[in-house]
Amino acid sequence: MKNRIEAIKQQIDVFELNSADKLEAFRLQFLVRKGSIAELFNQLKELSPVDRPEYGQRLNQLKKFAESTYEEAEKKLDVLASGKGKQHRDLTLPGRRQYTGSEHPVQQVLGDMKQIFKAMGFTIATGPELELDSYNFDKLNFPSNHPARDMQDTFFITKNGKDDDLLLRTHTSPVQIRVMLDEKPPIRVICPGKVYRNEAISARSYCVFHQLEGLYIDKQVSFADLKATIYSFAKQMFGSDVQLRFRPSFFPFTEPSAEVDVTCYLCGGKGCRVCKQSGWLEILGCGMVHPNVLRNCSIDPDEYSGFAFGMGVDRTALLRYKIDDIRLLFENDVRMLEQFSR
Ligand code: PHE
Repeated sequence: MKNRIEAIKQQIDVFELNSADKLEAFRLQFLVRKGSIAELFNQLKELSPVDRPEYGQRLNQLKKFAESTYEEAEKKLDVLASGKGKQHRDLTLPGRRQYTGSEHPVQQVLGDMKQIFKAMGFTIATGPELELDSYNFDKLNFPSNHPARDMQDTFFITKNGKDDDLLLRTHTSPVQIRVMLDEKPPIRVICPGKVYRNEAISARSYCVFHQLEGLYIDKQVSFADLKATIYSFAKQMFGSDVQLRFRPSFFPFTEPSAEVDVTCYLCGGKGCRVCKQSGWLEILGCGMVHPNVLRNCSIDPDEYSGFAFGMGVDRTALLRYKIDDIRLLFENDVRMLEQFSR
């Protein structure tokens, strides 16, 4: 009996089931009532009662094996006959195009910026884009009637029709506050991220853009440290022959404050359309952290001082890749994005 079962199993294994005729021959040989498997079932009763259960089980397995082999072959032949299977074998069809992802131009520029500051010992800190009003403004020493809070600039969040203490952050400076509340000096962080402003959308400005904030707090940090850091960054980012210009400016959270221009890297400072013939491009705002801001974060301004800076990322991406409309950076059009693989 055991040998018969093995023999039939082998016959099934080697049976070529590649046509409807062969399939029918298979069925007649193994699966019908007078087939070889049914015949073995009939012989079961001749076995001793001790052996019967074991062989019964083996025969059942054999029968299932024959049935599933038959069904699989039947399915395959059906697919071929209906023509569906053939599609997979049409070697004349053109190949499918393989898309390779590429880094967004803004992320490429941001990546270079991060690299430069990381090498100087800055670590990366992040904060939420939906921010507390008090972190975005109050703790940064904005007076309560400051024009930057105006509805024209800030996307305020309302809850149940009432103003909430929440807004879409208008700059990355609230991340400074979060870091200072969390950590003791010395602090040396950069904070990259998206910021939002309620501005008229045009080729030059959009309601969302990217900034990279920097914050350094320690004992005896001076404006000279700030200048050296910005010079070192600008030379690595824009080329060693770039010139810088620090212009006095105002931010509520820094004192003194400055805005920094670099020589236009399109015309080399001669004057062109992009720099509006001035030869300079503004890249960032910066200054010494205001003592009130330090106090708001429980850092003693008599013991510690520090500098902060905030730069735009998108404009640099536009200039570097000669893109003439900022909206293209936010539309996620693959035809535009795939041009920036590197
Ligand atoms: N937060 C300022 C802006 O968005 C930039 C800035 C950051 C200025 C840090 C000074 C210090 O314009």
